[in-house]
Parts: sequence; structure tokens; C-alpha cells
Amino acid sequence: MTQEEKAGTGSAPGKPCYILAVETSCDETAVSVVKNGTEVLSNLISSQIETHKAFGGVVPEVASRKHVESITYMLDEAMQTSGITPREISAVAVTQGPGLVGALLVGIVAAKSAALAFGKPLIGTHHIAGHIYANQLEHDIVYPCIALVVSGGHTELVLMESEGHFQLIGRTRDDAVGEAYDKVARAIGFPYPGGPHVDRVAHESEEVVTLPRAWLEPDSYDFSFSGLKSAVLNVINQTKMRGETVHVGAIARGFQESVVEVLVEKAIRAMREYGAKQLLLCGGVAANRGLRTALRERCEREGIDLLVPSMKYCTDNAAMIGAAAYAKWKRGEFTSLDMKADPGLSLEEWSVQT
Ligand code: KG4
Ligand code: ZN
Repeated sequence: MTQEEKAGTGSAPGKPCYILAVETSCDETAVSVVKNGTEVLSNLISSQIETHKAFGGVVPEVASRKHVESITYMLDEAMQTSGITPREISAVAVTQGPGLVGALLVGIVAAKSAALAFGKPLIGTHHIAGHIYANQLEHDIVYPCIALVVSGGHTELVLMESEGHFQLIGRTRDDAVGEAYDKVARAIGFPYPGGPHVDRVAHESEEVVTLPRAWLEPDSYDFSFSGLKSAVLNVINQTKMRGETVHVGAIARGFQESVVEVLVEKAIRAMREYGAKQLLLCGGVAANRGLRTALRERCEREGIDLLVPSMKYCTDNAAMIGAAAYAKWKRGEFTSLDMKADPGLSLEEWSVQT
């Protein structure tokens, strides 16, 4: 049976679409069943954070092994929780990239096996498209829209003229915002992942160390966080050299204010320039209280419709992969079973064809 013929078994008019989705691109093993790209029937996430904490970051080989340990059990569990039978499944979606190649591979092998065993088509899915479409699990997306993607590996501004079409208008030239958070957190003594700790102490501090803003060229939508990170390290070193105590909260607050101001300003400018109807925030750093509050206030003032996923859909999960894959399923755009993991998969190239 060809991929299209298999799709025919699930895509009859009016028949609901059930996508079994798998995500293993980094340190979370996740499996979900999503109905019509919007309704989450099951959403299982097994985090490896406790294992990686001891190393101060994700160890790729350890991540792959941990995925192997849990993926089969989680596939079973997600199917059972969803109440959907293998016959009813319309397609199997899996993160193809970007991510850690060994980690991606585990999810891909599991998804291919399920697709083959169930006789259903496969949809290789882009991880960042997943983060963006996490918004569709709780809101209606209106196009054209702009997505501000802020995660541990990505910081991007994406223009979407219509469903499934992605155009990158800005990206980080060095560190991703989550990566900068984790590095700053480590410098001020917090364990991995440090973002939530920096967020917390930044809120508690009444004092602030003023740090630079990296605006880059006036018309650029790109970002840069490595200079800011170096500025933080300089403040810490100079304070120590003077024999004074490092004020962790004041540094965290200064760092967060700098990051948030640049992200918010660039996103709002992009909204105006491209005449976008909605601003979609997504990725692990979308859980940041400072960023959520600043964006909310600014968008309210400017009359911009802001979509922010709830916390459970901000960090890596498989429901977002099922949501993103739905656009491809509707168009019958499936992936061959000889699909390979692609750590550098381009978001623009992953756009729907029609
Ligand atoms: O999207 P994600 O779960 O994984 C990637 O695909 O990268 O994002 C993880 C990143 C980590 O760097 C973590 O420190 C950061 O998101 N993060 C935060 C917060 N919660 C998670 N950063 C700042 N403030 C937070 N509250
Ligand atoms: Zn992610």
C-alpha cells in the first residue's frame, strides 16, 4: 500500500483525524494522540532532567539511552489513555529535526514501527513547527501571524502567511535565549535547567544591575545574546575582585530585563511591518513570567491579539507535534518510511507544498 492509499483509510470526508505523535528531540520522551490538530486525547511526557542535572546539561548519549528505555511503554500507554484503537489512527507523526541526532533516531524508529504495524502513513515533523502549533491546542490561529520562538536551542521570529507556511524573518546569531539563561544561571550558581531559577530570583529582587541591550542593525530582526552573557560574567568577576558579595537577584533581574525588552520590541515591530493579525509566543522560554507579563501588557496597549500556550505546552511535548502534523495530513503530504533524522532540518523547507 502506498502512503497515499494508507491515508485514504483515515481521511474520508467528515471522518475525524487522529494523529499518534512522538517527540524525542532532546531530553523529554513524549507521546500523544491528537484529534483534528486541536484536541489532546492523551499527552505523556517523561522528563530526563534529573538524570542530566548531574552533568550540568543534556548528555546526548545518555538522552538516547533514556528514550530507548521508555518509548515502547509510553506508546502503549498513550494509545490506551486516548481510547483510540490502532485502526482509528489516521497517521503517525514524529519529530524529524532539529534536535540531537541519536535522540531523534529513537523516536523515529518507534514511529516508523507503529506506522508499519498499524498500516498508517508517517509524517516527519519539524520541532519548531511543533512549538508554534502548540498554540493551536488551545486557540484558533488567524493568519497572517508572527511567531516568537524562544527555546533552549532556538530564538526566531517566524512569519506565517497561511497555515503551514513558515518564513524566517529573524534568528539568533549566537546563543539561543534559553541557552543564555542556562549559562547565566550556572554562573550565578543555579543547577540545569537554570531558566526558571533566573526567572524566579529576577522577580524577587528589588535591585537591578543595568546591562546592555543587543539591538543589532536598526532594521534587523536577528538576536544576539552572547554579549549580554559576557557582560554578566564581567559583572560577577569584577564584584569578586573587589571582594564584594555578588547580588544574584540584581544580576538575574538585569539580565532578564535586557532579554525581555529586546524580544518584545522586535516582535512588536515585526507585527506592524508585516500587518500580522496575531502574535504567537512559544518554546520553553515562553514559560518565563517576565516575558509573558511584558508581552501581555505591551500587546494589550497596542491592541495586538497575543496567543500564549499554557505551561504544559510550552516545554517539549508530543501534542504540539500532532498539532503541526495536522496541516500536512489535511494535504496528504506524507513522509517515506526511509526518512532519516535531520538535526539541521529547515523550518522554511518543511512548509506545506500547497
Ligand atoms: O523548548 P524547550 O523545552 O527545549 C528546547 O527545545 O530547547 O526549552 C528549554 C529551555 C531551557 O533552556 C530552560 O532553561 C528554558 O527553556 N526555560 C526558561 C524558563 N522555563 C524554561 N527560561 C527562562 N525562564 C523560564 N521560566
Ligand atoms: Zn523544544
